[in-house]
Amino acid sequence: MLKKLNHIAIVVPDVKKAKEIYKQNFNAVVSDPKSYPEHGVTVVFVELENTKIELMEPYGKNSPIMKFLEKNPDGGMHHICLEVSDINKSLENLNNKKVTILGSGKPTTGSHNKPILFLHPKEFCGTLIELEEE
Ligand code: CO
Repeated sequence: MLKKLNHIAIVVPDVKKAKEIYKQNFNAVVSDPKSYPEHGVTVVFVELENTKIELMEPYGKNSPIMKFLEKNPDGGMHHICLEVSDINKSLENLNNKKVTILGSGKPTTGSHNKPILFLHPKEFCGTLIELEEE
């Protein structure tokens, strides 16, 4: 069911500063900040050969990552995103196994314009898992 690691997401207090940290210390290729008001985040991507790191700053008062930042003021790892070939098949599979799907329990469109699901961290070794259709 699992294919590639799509990205690792890290919540940061300031996405511009985070971009500079990756550029100055690693000479990394980092995209310019882009805001997604509908998802409540501003993000930059650190490009790696085999995957990317998504640095996310809360956008707006109702940002879903605001609480995480309050608990982790320096920032911290928020989730990993794994690719699957067919999100609806994966959902059916996970429903059969009684896995808790966050939110509505149905795939939604993520910031990469692909269908995604989030799985409860309590059931996955304390790690929030995002599944994204490849
Ligand atoms: Co993600």
